[in-house]
Parts: sequence; structure tokens; C-alpha cells
Amino acid sequence: MPVTTNVALGVGGGIAAYKAAELARALMERGFSVQVVMTRSAEEFVRPLTFAALTGRKVITNLFSAASAEDTLSSAIEHIRVAQENHILVIAPATADLLAKLAHGLADDFLTTTYLAFTGSVVLAPAMNTNMWNHPATQENLRILRERGHVIVEPDDGILACGMVGPGRLAEPEIIAQAVAGVAGRGSSKHDLDGETVLITAGPTQEPLDPVRYLSNRSSGKMGYALAEAAAERGARVILVSGPVTLAPPARVELILVRTAVEMRQAVMDHLEQATMIIKAAAVADYHRANPPQQKVKKTAARLSLELDPTPDILAEVGRKKGDRLLVGFAAETENLIEAARRKLQSKNCDMVVANLVSQPGIGFESDENAVTLVLRTGETIPVERASKSIIAHRIFDEAMKLRLALHSAQ
Ligand code: PMT
Repeated sequence: MPVTTNVALGVGGGIAAYKAAELARALMERGFSVQVVMTRSAEEFVRPLTFAALTGRKVITNLFSAASAEDTLSSAIEHIRVAQENHILVIAPATADLLAKLAHGLADDFLTTTYLAFTGSVVLAPAMNTNMWNHPATQENLRILRERGHVIVEPDDGILACGMVGPGRLAEPEIIAQAVAGVAGRGSSKHDLDGETVLITAGPTQEPLDPVRYLSNRSSGKMGYALAEAAAERGARVILVSGPVTLAPPARVELILVRTAVEMRQAVMDHLEQATMIIKAAAVADYHRANPPQQKVKKTAARLSLELDPTPDILAEVGRKKGDRLLVGFAAETENLIEAARRKLQSKNCDMVVANLVSQPGIGFESDENAVTLVLRTGETIPVERASKSIIAHRIFDEAMKLRLALHSAQ
């Protein structure tokens, strides 16, 4: 029987408080036990009875709710109990006021007092008006809280209750639940990849120009390594073919290090037979110097021209040889994202292409976060809001498994 992880769910006072009920349910579906703690203002938006009915447990509403001295004492001690009994504290919605109190250690109610006594992992899902979100004070509080190691589940863009359009909408409960599951080291706590062998490529390739110089790109490998971690968490056997990166190899993953596109191709072909799913997240160089000189090219005052040849198109070759394996390609574009991704999907015989607009600041190469659009063979496109590459990786597998089921049922 898997160990139950106890989660304290703090609910702040905001129009999105009602969505905390969906989050409570999503967490319980993942096998977490949920203790709800509401701020006084949260009760203006949703009744404690809603959570009590959902979780089957008493809902804690404030620090000193007691009628008598004894009750006050037991109530004051209760926040210590909640802090000690729970492994994860998730606060959703985390209002601007709550973020400020947490950042500066203010404790004037049960939730903020419990936070100060809490020593486990903290996940915060902010929700507020766009101007409040963008305010330097809020952004500074978020910086403090991130530096403290807390996971921030970025709010979505969209139309807010106040009518404004922009960031500030509470992230989807499913995304928040996945972030909590990730913190619990249980990924999405699904083991839907049991029995799958997932072959993943990650990172850049380096194409030598001479024994000293090479052509490469800014890929850090984070996207591919997040995919490898997510697949391993979900029960898959993972073979990770990685270009040169500085990341630590993920646990429970078979790592094959390569340098050039030619070496990456060879490693992929050597393991294709065993794979049931292939995900090509690597930023493979498109060109290389077919026969680089054995000696370093000497610097002169004259212009240096290089003749470069196309590298082997690994994705296209896998597309030709994949059989009934699921093939997921990536598209790193700076314009015409969806059209380019659709072209790749068709021309390389992919089942899905993960398209990312790598010219957008804060996503794509090197970043901790990404924002993608999943382009499916069915023609469907699924935008996945900006989130950590771990959350994006889980979403990619969620959709890949739906595809897998659809392909199997179509046979
Ligand atoms: O590694 P990070 O810093 O986390 O950055 C993540 C990322 C931006 C690298 C990743 O999200 C991404 O977009 N990876 C694909 C980058 C790329 O090469 O895209 P492309 O559009 O140039 O290539 C299309 C597809 O063909 C890719 O699946 C690529 O792996 C594959 N390809 C490309 C060239 C080649 N010779 N062989 C290939 O298989």
C-alpha cells in the first residue's frame, strides 16, 4: 500500500477560491490526504462545508476560533499539529496579501501561523488582478518565496473577474495537483507508462570545425531531462540519448552520452528496436563540417568561408522506421509556429509535434519553463500554458498516452 502523503491545502480569499474544491478532489484522486485550512476572507467566497463534505475532515477556519481559554489553547496548539502532520503545504488561491505575509513572516491567522511552523515542501498557486500580479511588490515577494525553494505554479493568462485580460487567473487545478505530485516525488502519481520503453533525445549536438572549434546551440537539455524524469516517475523504462549538457543524470534512467548528430543518430538507431515511444527533444545541428581538418585552422587576416553539409535527419529516419511506435517530434520556431509544426508532423510521420516559440523570452532554450502547443496527427492543437518543464513534460505524456489509446482502439 503506497505511503499516503498528507497535504495541507490553504485556501485564500479570492474569486478563485471555489476552484480549490476541484484541487482538493484532484489531490485525493492522487491518493493524498487533504486537510483544508481557510482564511477568514476565503469563507466569503466558499463555505467550509464544501471542503468538509469533499475531504470528510473538519475544515480549519482561523487561529483563535475558540470560545473558551481551554479551546484557545488547544486551537493555538492545533496549528502546530497541522504543520507537523502534513508533508506538503499547498496554498491556492494564494492572494497578493497572502504572498506578502508569507514572504515577510507575518502570522495573524491560522494559515500564516501554520506556514511559519511548517518545515515541509510548499507549493503556491497565485491568483489576483493583473496589475496586482505585475506590481513590483508582488514580484519581489515571489522572488523571495522562490529563493526559499517554494514551487510557484504560475497563474494563467485570460479574462479575470474584474474584466481585465492578462496574467492572474489561478492555474488549472489539474496543473496544481501535478505540481504537488511532482514535489511529492511521485510525478503525476500515475503509473500509466508501466511497460513502455521511452527513447528520448536531449540537449545540443556539437559539430567540430577543427580539433578545437565546433558549431552548437544553446540547448541545456532541461526539456529532454524533464521528459526522462517524468517517464521514469510514471513507470517507463527510459533510454536517454543526451548531447553535452551540465545536468545531473536523472535517476532510474539509462543515459547514453553523445556529441555529434552522427553519433546521436547511431545511438537512436541502436535502441530503436527496443523502444515503444520515441521523443526527440534534442536540438540536433542541421549542418556539420563533413570532414573537419585534423589540425587547428590558423587565424589569418583573410575571410574564412566554411562549407557545411546537412547532418542526418534522425527524426525523418525514425519516422520511416517507427512501425507502431509512438513518435513525438519537437519544433523550435521563431515564427509561423503551428504551420511549421504541422509540416514537420506530416513530413516526418510524427504522431505529435511539440511546438515551442523559442524567440519568446523565458521559454525554450535554457529556461526552467516552457510554453508549448501540442500538434496532433488528428489536426488538433493543444496549447499548454507556460509552466515548469516538468509540468510540461507530464502534459506531453498525458496527451501521448491518450494518443496511444486512440491508436490502439482504432486498430
Ligand atoms: O534543452 P533546453 O534548453 O531545455 O531547450 C529545449 C528545446 C528548445 C531545445 C526544446 O524544447 C526543443 O525545441 N527541441 C527541438 C529543437 C530542434 O532542433 O527543433 P527543430 O525544429 O530544429 O527540429 C525539429 C525536430 O527534428 C526535433 O525533434 C529535432 O530533435 C529533430 N531533428 C532535427 C535535426 C536533425 N538533424 N535531426 C533531428 O532529429
